[in-house]
Amino acid sequence: MARSRLRRVGAASVTAVLLAAGPATMAAAAPGDGIGDPYFPTYGNTGYDIEHYDLRLNYQPDTDRLSGTATLVTEATEDLDKFSLDFLLDVRSIRVNGKKSTFESDGDHKVIVTPKAPVDAGDQMTVVVKYADVPSSVKWSKGEVTGWHRSDGGAIALGEPEVAWWWFPSNDHPLDKATFDVRVSVPEDYKAVSNGVLTGQFTRAGRTVYLWRQDQPAATYLATLAVGKYEVNTGTTASGLPVYNAYDPGLDSLMGAAKASIERSEEILEFQEQDFGPYPFNALGGIVAGPDSGLGFALETQTRPVYSHAFFARGSNPYVVAHELAHQWWGNHVSVARWQDIWLNEGFASYAEWMLSEHEGEGTVQEIADYVYDSNPEDDPFWQVKPGDPGADNVFHSAVYDRGALAVHALRMEVGEAAFADILTTWQQEHANGNATVEEFIELAEKVSGQDLTELFDTWLYTEGRPAEPPAPQATTRTL
Ligand code: ARG
Ligand code: ZN
Repeated sequence: MARSRLRRVGAASVTAVLLAAGPATMAAAAPGDGIGDPYFPTYGNTGYDIEHYDLRLNYQPDTDRLSGTATLVTEATEDLDKFSLDFLLDVRSIRVNGKKSTFESDGDHKVIVTPKAPVDAGDQMTVVVKYADVPSSVKWSKGEVTGWHRSDGGAIALGEPEVAWWWFPSNDHPLDKATFDVRVSVPEDYKAVSNGVLTGQFTRAGRTVYLWRQDQPAATYLATLAVGKYEVNTGTTASGLPVYNAYDPGLDSLMGAAKASIERSEEILEFQEQDFGPYPFNALGGIVAGPDSGLGFALETQTRPVYSHAFFARGSNPYVVAHELAHQWWGNHVSVARWQDIWLNEGFASYAEWMLSEHEGEGTVQEIADYVYDSNPEDDPFWQVKPGDPGADNVFHSAVYDRGALAVHALRMEVGEAAFADILTTWQQEHANGNATVEEFIELAEKVSGQDLTELFDTWLYTEGRPAEPPAPQATTRTL
């Protein structure tokens, strides 16, 4: 979907940013080069835009065998005699516009495809990839990092920034958002959960087929597949969204706390809509993994985040739900243009936790801001990571989250309540279903507030070391 999105957000800004990226994009891009992300230069591909992924998959939990057909509906953006896909699994065949094509692996996460006939820029290009492999067995250059998490009861595809290439061939960068249909066949005692709306489900010959549709654009890392013997709870929100929550039975004594958290999704969403604007998607839910998956994090997969059991070890946790649901706006509806823009995701999702705390009467935003500032001593390495440019190894450093949320609070204190509210909702409208950079956010904040915010953002996002003071109410905003 990159084309229409780029038109909407202004092709110049995003493309200019990527072209400044580095060696990979200095010369004409070659297949396998990557889309030009400064932090992850080999991720994603050039030469085409994916509009839609159609995945027809079979999964065998006992052997971890995943097989199927991925059909990528794309448009060539250059004349192509070769192009690349991001994928780690063993490919059986690839057809481009109906014709069998040759392909080879680059030895890591790329498959280089040579269509039988070159494809002209502007033409539709349909790529059909047949594959079968055992995702837990594949190796790649980042060693132990995997997006495929097995458990006794199944498997979950989950990771950031890398996950898609363990389960479907893709243009694996947030810049190329697309819609998804995911059809999964599993043994009938299992459930297969993905994103968006469950449009159908049927059982025959001992297998159940699940049909999931995500019909608003999603970044590739926001697509998930979770197979397990889940306990499922479905419903409809007051505003008519279908709800589908899945709980791993291995949660055992944590089941109550997990449900007491995830079943509050609708309520938390309603609270967040007051600050972020209307919920951008048409389905809602959560998937809670069991302890045997070894999953130690949560991730905001579109419409249906996945949560580690660990978040519920000490009782209910509405904050992790607030965090992952806030990402539906901050990261999913408006996605990073480059991975270095990660503050736009984690800073705001973390701030959403603080907002919920104040709403719940469990500590005000200001109290939490003061606590975060004070509890990280001046000489702590925490202050050496710049949330606005943390470096590829630190995109999920706690500074991106906590100092990132302090930056949001600093902005709010500087511009006041009305301008802050306006910035948040205008951002969502201006970049709806698109991508954006931190620089674009700063530009908008300055435009809406009419203030020069250079120093504020330099201090909180781009300078190593602890700022002199925590963010605090300004004399002018205190009277509001
Ligand atoms: N976006 C996720 C969150 O909400 C981050 C997950 C990163 N962890 C990982 N192992 N990839 O915090
Ligand atoms: Zn997050």
